[in-house]
Amino acid sequence: MKLTKLDQIRAAEAKLLLSTYDRNPILFVGGEGVHIADEHGTKYLDLLSGIGVNALGYGHPVIEEAIAKQSRALIHTSNLFYHEGQAELAMRLTERTGLDRVFFSNTGTEAWEGAMKLARAYAGLLRSEGKQIGTKFLALEQSFHGRTFGSVSTTYKAKYREPFGPVVPGVEFVRFNDVADLRAKFSSEVCAILVESIQGEGGVRPLTQEFFAEARALATSTGALLIVDEIQSGMGRTGKWCAYQHYDILPDITTLAKPIAGGIPLGAVLCTEEVARAIHAGMHGTTFGGGPLACAVAIAVIDHIERENLLAHASEVGDYFQAQLSQLAKRHTAIIDVRGKGLMLAAELDSADLAKLTVAEMLKRKILINCTSDTVLRFLPPYILERADVDTAIAALDEIFTEHAGAVGAANNATQSAGGQNHV
Ligand SMILES: Cc1ncc(COP(=O)(O)O)c(C=O)c1O
Repeated sequence: MKLTKLDQIRAAEAKLLLSTYDRNPILFVGGEGVHIADEHGTKYLDLLSGIGVNALGYGHPVIEEAIAKQSRALIHTSNLFYHEGQAELAMRLTERTGLDRVFFSNTGTEAWEGAMKLARAYAGLLRSEGKQIGTKFLALEQSFHGRTFGSVSTTYKAKYREPFGPVVPGVEFVRFNDVADLRAKFSSEVCAILVESIQGEGGVRPLTQEFFAEARALATSTGALLIVDEIQSGMGRTGKWCAYQHYDILPDITTLAKPIAGGIPLGAVLCTEEVARAIHAGMHGTTFGGGPLACAVAIAVIDHIERENLLAHASEVGDYFQAQLSQLAKRHTAIIDVRGKGLMLAAELDSADLAKLTVAEMLKRKILINCTSDTVLRFLPPYILERADVDTAIAALDEIFTEHAGAVGAANNATQSAGGQNHV
C-alpha cells in the first residue's frame, strides 16, 4: 500500500519507527527558493532550512544539475579507489578554512568523531616522541557535538548523555566563556580543547574573543589541539567560510557538515599538516564518506556561493535581520537578547512558554523557525534570503508578541505568585 496522506503516514510511523522525533504534523513534498511546500501546495517561509542545511534553499538549479550530472556518471565507489571529486573539493575547503588536509565523512557527528580520534592519535604520536601530554578533552558547557558516543560524551546536556551511560570517559566541561575556569581545568593532561565558535543548539552563543584567544594560547603552550566545531556555523552561514575567521584564530582541527553539499549528506574534518602526521592508512575510514555524488554537489554549492557573492549577501541580510530583531526588542520587553552573526541568529525570550507558543504561532502563519535551549528563538535561513522575507518574519513576530507576550507574561506571573514553576 502506498502511503500518501499525512494521517496514514503518521499512523504507520508511530507503529514502525523508533520514537526519536516529535514531528510537527505537516507533510512536506517540495519547495522553491526560500519556501518549502506541503502536500496541499501550501508554502512556508523556511527560516530554519532543515536545521541549517539547505543553504541554497529548495529546487535550486545548480544543485539539481550537479545531482543529475553526477548520478548519470557515478554515484558511489569505495574509498579503495580514486574518483574525481575528493581532491577538487579538498582544494576548495583547505583554501577557504586555512587548514591543510581533509577527511570526508557523511554527517556532522561522524566528522566530530574523526576530530576526536585524530586528537587522541596526535597526542599518542607526541608521547611517542617524548612529549608529556594526556588524553583528556575539555569541552564547554551548553555544547552540542552530535549523538554518536564520542560526540555525545562531549555534548553538555545530561538528557543527551545520561540514558546511554557510561559515555566515553576523559571529558571535562568548562563554564562557557569563563577564562578562569578554562585556565583552572587546563593542564598537560589535556589533549584537546573543544569549542563551537558560536554555540548552535546551546542557544546561538558566540565565544568571546578573550576566551577563544586564551583557548588557542593554552593549547599551543602544551601541544594540545584547539578543535573548532563549525558544523552549524561554518560554510558561509555567518558571512565567512568559518565563524572562527571573525576572531582571526586558526584551529588545529575543524569540522564541517550541514550545508556543505546543499542537502546531500556530507561532513569533513580538516586539520593542519602537523596534526595529519598522526594518521596512516587503515587507522580511520568510511564506506560512503566523500562519495562522488556528495563531492560533486558540494563543489557546485561552493562555486555558486562564490560566484553569487553569497557570503557578502548572508552578512548583509543577516545584519538587516539582526537590526530588525533589535528594533522589535525595543517594542517588546519579552525579547531579552538578540545575538548571532550573519544568518545564524537568535532572539532570546523571557519565557519558555512564550518561546514555544511563538514557534507554533509562526507555523500557523506559515513561517518555520525553532526554539533551542528552551527560551531561544533560532533563525538559520537559506543564504538566499532577501530583506523582504525578513520583513515578513518580523511583521509576524510583532503581531504574535503584541497578541501574546502580555498574556503569557501575566500567566507566568500568576503561576509564580501561586508558587508554580518559574520558566524564565
Ligand atoms: C555544532 C554541531 N555539531 C555537530 C552536530 C551533529 O551533526 P549531525 O546531526 O549531522 O550528526 C550538530 C547538529 O546539530 C551541530 O549543530
